[in-house]
Amino acid sequence: MANSKYEYVKSFEVEDEIMLPNIIIVRVDGRDFRRFSEVHEFEKPNDKKALELLNECAKAVLEQFPDIIFSYGFSDEYRVDWLTDKMLCSKIHSLIVSFFTSVYVTKWKALFPQKDLRYAPSLRSRVICCASVEVLQAYLVWRQYECHLNNQYDTCLWKLIQSGKSQKEAEEILKGSQKQDRNELLYQCFNINYKKDIPEIFRQGTCTLKTEVEDIVKYKDDGCPVKRLRRKVITVHSENIASRRFWNDQLCLPNELGPFTEDLNKTMPEYLKSFQYESKLMPCTWIVIRIDGCHFHRFSEVHEFEKPNDAQALNLMNSCAAGVLEEFRDIVFAYGVSDEYSFVLKKESQLYRRHASEIVSAVVSFFSSMYAMKWNEFFPHKEMKYPPYFDGRAVCYPSCEILLDYLAWRQVDCHINNQYNTCFWMLVKSGKSKSAAQQYLKGNVVHCFVLNATVDSNPLNLDYFPFISGDDNVAYSQGTQAQEKNELLDQLSGTIDYYNKLPLMFRQGSSVYWDKVISFLLSLPTTKSIT
Ligand code: GTP
Ligand code: MG
Repeated sequence: MANSKYEYVKSFEVEDEIMLPNIIIVRVDGRDFRRFSEVHEFEKPNDKKALELLNECAKAVLEQFPDIIFSYGFSDEYRVDWLTDKMLCSKIHSLIVSFFTSVYVTKWKALFPQKDLRYAPSLRSRVICCASVEVLQAYLVWRQYECHLNNQYDTCLWKLIQSGKSQKEAEEILKGSQKQDRNELLYQCFNINYKKDIPEIFRQGTCTLKTEVEDIVKYKDDGCPVKRLRRKVITVHSENIASRRFWNDQLCLPNELGPFTEDLNKTMPEYLKSFQYESKLMPCTWIVIRIDGCHFHRFSEVHEFEKPNDAQALNLMNSCAAGVLEEFRDIVFAYGVSDEYSFVLKKESQLYRRHASEIVSAVVSFFSSMYAMKWNEFFPHKEMKYPPYFDGRAVCYPSCEILLDYLAWRQVDCHINNQYNTCFWMLVKSGKSKSAAQQYLKGNVVHCFVLNATVDSNPLNLDYFPFISGDDNVAYSQGTQAQEKNELLDQLSGTIDYYNKLPLMFRQGSSVYWDKVISFLLSLPTTKSIT
C-alpha cells in the first residue's frame, strides 16, 4: 500500500529474531489462576476437568502449528514447544498464547456444561531458547520435579484442610517437611498411597506429542485397503519424561528434536533460567502493544463479514479493547482499525517490570479471550467456526511527537486501505470481476499518497497526552488521486460525497480511552471514532 510521511516510525520496531539452530520452548502460564479457580469453584487440589481443558488446548496448539512437536504441562502451567522457522520471538509466543486462550474459552462449555465462564481467563507466555537437546532434557527434569513437589504438597495441604485444620495450621504442619515425610503423612493419616492412589495426570503432568498412525483411506476394487500414514496428536503420561527410555521410544521426539543420550536426574533451575529470553523495554518511553488478527482474511470470509467493513466485527474489536483498558490500568489509549489494535501504556508504567514478553502476552491473551467470550453478544445468530487468534509486539517511542506520528501512521493506513477497499467492492458490485477491479485500481490509485494526515487535536483529554490540543479532530489533506477515488465512488453509487458519508468508524478507525466524567460515574472506558 501507499507510503506516508509517518512511515519512519517503523524504524523504532526492534527485530527480536531467535538465533537458530535452537530448540525453542514457549512457556505459558495462567494469569492469576488462583482467583480464577476459586471463582469457578475448581476442585482442590486438582480439578480433573480443568486439567483436561488445558490438555485439550495443548492438543489444539499442536494441531494448529505444524512446527510444534511436543508439550508438557501441569497445573495451569504449560508447555514445551519447538519451532523451526526463523520467527520473531514476540510473534511466536504471542501467537501461541493467543490461540491457547481462544481455545480455552471456546472449549469451556464442553468441559463445564453446568458452569458459566464468569470472566475472561488469560495467560502469559515467554520464550526459553535451548542451545541443545541436553538443555531441553534438563528443562524437562526441572519442570516435572516442580510438578511432583507442588502436587504432593498441595495434596497434603488439602487433605489436612478437609480433615478440619485451618489453612494456617495445615501450612504449619507441612513447614520444613521433606518428600518422604509427606508420603508418610498421607499414608498414616489418610490411608493414601501417593503413587498408587493419586491419578497420574496429577502426579506426572501431561505430555502431548505427534505420532504417526496408519489410516485406511479407501478400499480397492479387490477389497484391499489403501493405507496412508497420518500425523496424530496424542496425550501420554510418564513417570520420567526426561528419561532416555520414554523420550527415545517416541517416534517423533528423537527424530525431530534429537535423542537423549544419558539419563539425567539433577534439576538445575538457575542454569535453565539463563536461557530465558528476557527483553526489558526502555524506561521512560511510551510502550505501544500492537496486536493483529492472524489470517483474518480467511476468518472474515468463513464468518461472512460484510465487505469491506463489518460494523459488528469492528464493534466486537472495540468492545474487547475497552475490556483491555479496564483490565490493564496502565493502558491510557487504544486505537483500532480492521483486525488490529494498538494499546499505549503510560510512559512511566512498571507493568511486569517492563518485560516485553509478559506485557505482550498478557494483553494479546486477554484480548483473544474477550473476543471469544463476547462473540455471541455481537453475533447472536452466527456460530464461531474456529478460534481466532492474534499476534502481538511491543514498540517503544521516546517522545510524544513520535508516539503521535505512530498513531497518525496507523490512521493514514486505515484511511488508505478503507478508501481502496470501498472502491474495490463497489467496482465488484457494479459487475467487474475481482481481478478487473484490482487492475482498474492499480492503474488509477496505487500511487495515491495521503501525505499530510495529522493528529492535531485532543480527542483524549487525558493528562498523559498533554501535548495534543484543540478539538476532536483528525485532519486529512488528501492527494488528488484520493479525490479521483471519491469521484469514482460518487459515480458508482449515484450519491454525492459518498465516501465522506460512510460511518466514521470505517473511515477513521476507533479510539478507546478513559473518559473522566464517565469513568467517575460508571467506571467504564469509552469507545469513540475520532473525527
Ligand atoms: P496476517 O495478519 O498476516 O495473518 O493476515 P490477515 O489475513 O489477517 O490480513 P491483514 O491483517 O493484513 O488484514 C486484515 C484482513 O482482515 C483484511 O484484509 C480483511 O480481509 C479482513 N477484515 C478485517 N476487518 C474486516 C471487515 O470488517 N470485513 C471484512 N469482510 N473483512 C475484514
Ligand atoms: Mg491480520
